[in-house]
Amino acid sequence: MAERGSDYTTDVVYPSAFGAFQSPAHLVQAAWTGGRAAPRIDRPFTYADLGSGVGLTLCVLADCYPDAEFHGVDINPEHIRQSRDLARRAGLTNVTFHEASFADLGRLAIPRLDFAGLSGIYSWLPPELRSACMAFLGQRLAPDGAVFLHYAALPGNAQIDALYALIREVAAGLPGDSVERFRAACAVIGRLRKAQARFFRVNPQADAWFGQIESQDPRGMAHEVLNARSLSLSARDAADEAAPHGLAYVANAQLELNDLQLTAPDALRADLQGLAPTAREMLMDAVRNTHSRMDVMMRADAPPATAPPPMWVDRLTRGPLTAERRDLSGRTGVDLGAAPYGAVLERVDGQAARLADVLADPRLGAGAAQTVQRLAALKLVHLLPRPYADAPAGKSRIASRLNALVLDEAIDSAGPMPFASPVAGTQVLLPPQDRLALLHLVDGDFDAAWARLAKAGQVARMDGQAIAGAEALHAAAARRAQAIGPAMTLQLGRLGILGA
Ligand SMILES: C[S@@+](CC[C@H](N)C(=O)[O-])C[C@H]1O[C@@H](n2cnc3c(N)ncnc32)[C@H](O)[C@@H]1O
Repeated sequence: MAERGSDYTTDVVYPSAFGAFQSPAHLVQAAWTGGRAAPRIDRPFTYADLGSGVGLTLCVLADCYPDAEFHGVDINPEHIRQSRDLARRAGLTNVTFHEASFADLGRLAIPRLDFAGLSGIYSWLPPELRSACMAFLGQRLAPDGAVFLHYAALPGNAQIDALYALIREVAAGLPGDSVERFRAACAVIGRLRKAQARFFRVNPQADAWFGQIESQDPRGMAHEVLNARSLSLSARDAADEAAPHGLAYVANAQLELNDLQLTAPDALRADLQGLAPTAREMLMDAVRNTHSRMDVMMRADAPPATAPPPMWVDRLTRGPLTAERRDLSGRTGVDLGAAPYGAVLERVDGQAARLADVLADPRLGAGAAQTVQRLAALKLVHLLPRPYADAPAGKSRIASRLNALVLDEAIDSAGPMPFASPVAGTQVLLPPQDRLALLHLVDGDFDAAWARLAKAGQVARMDGQAIAGAEALHAAAARRAQAIGPAMTLQLGRLGILGA
């Protein structure tokens, strides 16, 4: 279906997941890692998600940051309908969804932006729409604004690009909706592969990818593969497309990848340290054969970070984590047993501290920022918009309507589901068995849960055992709640998901 210069798939709903790397808290950390000051997230701010899908990411973020203003833009009317429906039922008044093409971004009532996200869309667009997005960001981004840009990347996708082009070409001539055409085209190409086509013999990555195609969600694949202009980009391509609009690469959103000490091969580290960011990123992409990049971009003249972001350092663990640090030291080659790491862990053992105060600790010395960034990248401490809350005493309840909806309505989802944590400023993922335990802890409706599971044709399992009927489901959930309930109540309470 062609839409204003794009051939983007619009007849099948995209099965979105939450985009954790595009959360404001994450972007602030990334900017700080890249030496820039992003907007404060302890005050009202603005955020736009371009290609917002069914709105899950934006609704979770709107729930996490009630004082901020969120905008989603998507061309697919069904995506926008579902997004608005979720926002309305969750009682979110700080999120607006715009049904529009990126070609019309300039006409939308979207304010100056502190943050923007483009997830799963940029490299799937034709060049003129990529340019429209960049132009919009160039005009609308605040001087210190930060953009999350995710794209299918080279070199890892070179063989996959060729395979996609083949699938697309065959699918274009077949009848049916995008999923049906995708499946029928794959059947043809499967026969090609079986017939020992040389392409598959000399391109092992394409061969391996095709070998696992049947295990993928065909709706997601229809979006991923059938978009006529989809073309993977290098870090250089993305930087070159951003530059005319005054935007430049600041950091990799996979924060640990900014730390060459942690992630670069020993033999290459000296070469990498001397290189400009784009060359460094492309070499590291070759090391890892990256097929998807997540860049954080800001204005080329964005202000330097003269102070750390107004965040908190906290942990859910206690003690010096000696064994964990030893294990991580072995894996990364960085001595995490060194005194500054211990000083940070000790400082936030049982109580949160402001990031600025942690950095001012004389035991951390000149490399204080890197010490904290490294511990955060390794998830030994967390940088948070607010400190972990006190756990609720007594009976607890789900604190937000969105989270209550996710618990009730996604009980049949086989994968983990995102719950909004206003403390972490991002999602917390709960797997199916934990969601059933949570449903028990908050006196949820197991008849309704069973009806949903049965309707979805899902076999509910607890500890490997299949469950039949609402009563058995409730009993299994109660057993799980007994085993993990106190720890879960404590953690979800500290994360602001359960309240008194
Ligand atoms: C693969 S989905 C990604 C959704 C979401 N960002 C995520 O990461 O789950 C890409 C989204 O971009 C939207 N889209 C594609 N072309 C567009 C265009 N020209 N203008 C606006 N939205 C577009 C699609 O409808 C779809 O919802």
